[in-house]
Amino acid sequence: MRMISNSPRTTAAIARVLAKEVFKAKSLVVLGLVGELGAGKTTFIKAFIKGLGSKKKVTSPTFIILRRLPLNAKRDIYHIDAYRVKSKDLLQLGLKEVMTRRNIVLVEWAERVKKVLPKNTIWLKLEHGNNKNERYITINRR
Ligand SMILES: Nc1ncnc2c1ncn2[C@@H]1O[C@H](COP(=O)(O)OP(=O)(O)O)[C@@H](O)[C@H]1O
Ligand SMILES: [Mg+2]
Repeated sequence: MRMISNSPRTTAAIARVLAKEVFKAKSLVVLGLVGELGAGKTTFIKAFIKGLGSKKKVTSPTFIILRRLPLNAKRDIYHIDAYRVKSKDLLQLGLKEVMTRRNIVLVEWAERVKKVLPKNTIWLKLEHGNNKNERYITINRR
């Protein structure tokens, strides 16, 4: 499925809709975000986490690789920035623990750590469009 967003607000709205769906899931959900710098990965993730009902503020200081945002008794949200790491590094940071329960795991630069992401990861690609604020958002499960 491919959508066109023409503003950060539209990207945020798409993220919230998807978050509502993911919230209904009864098992682990992993979302792999792919897209170059400035494509809108963090914009998407911030709105997504808010859409899940989290009150936590999503900052993205680049030196943080893995952050846990507790959501409720059944699940935690994890925000991973894989820009500077390899699959092995994530395993060392405790990825096994992350990928359990009904957790919701959001991974920026996911293609870099594809090896350690589950088969049913939802892949979300963000690409620059033809003008400054245009982005193509493609979702596919493979
Ligand atoms: N349609 C859009 N969707 C998302 N971000 C957009 C859009 N149009 C412009 N932008 C801008 O692009 C930048 C995206 O930054 P960010 O979300 O941090 O990207 P990334 O995490 O992929 O590097 C922000 O400054 C945002 O305001
Ligand atoms: Mg980012």
